[in-house]
Amino acid sequence: MANERTLSILKPDATARNITGKINTKFEAAGLRIVAQRRVHLARSEAEQFYAIHKGKAFFNDLCAFMSSAPVVVQVLEGANAIAKNREVMGATDPKQAAPGTIRAEFGLSIDQNTVHGSDSATTAAQEIAFFFRETEILS
Ligand code: CMP
Repeated sequence: MANERTLSILKPDATARNITGKINTKFEAAGLRIVAQRRVHLARSEAEQFYAIHKGKAFFNDLCAFMSSAPVVVQVLEGANAIAKNREVMGATDPKQAAPGTIRAEFGLSIDQNTVHGSDSATTAAQEIAFFFRETEILS
C-alpha cells in the first residue's frame, strides 16, 4: 500500500462547534497521521482560489461564502492510501448519504456545512497541500 499525503480541511461548522478534536480522533483511529496543521481564517478570495475547480457551479458562491465565514483548520494527513482512506472516513459529500460512523454522518449538518473537505486524487492532493503548506512545515 502506497504511503500518501492528503489535504484535509475542518470546515467552519467544525470550528464553531469546537469538535475539531473529535474529528482528529477519527482520523488517528483510522491510521491517518496529522503531519501538519494550522488554524486559519480564509479570505473570500482565498476560498475562491482554493475551490476554483467549482467556479460556475450553482453552489460556488455559497461554498466560498461559508468557507470564509469563520476559521478553518487545514491539515496534511499521511498514511497508507491516505487519499482514499480519508474519503472513506469522511463519508459521502451529502451527510444524508454518508455511511454510519463516518465523520459527515456523525457531524455533518448539510451538504454545504459538511464538516470536512478532503482531496479527491493524488494530483489534487499535491496541489491542495502546496496551496497551504511549504514542504518544511510537514513533519512526518
Ligand atoms: P467539499 O469536499 O469541500 O468540496 C466542494 C464542496 O461544495 C462540497 O464539499 C460541499 O460542501 C459543497 N457542495 C454544495 N453543493 C454541492 C453539490 N451539489 N455537489 C458537490 N458539492 C457540493
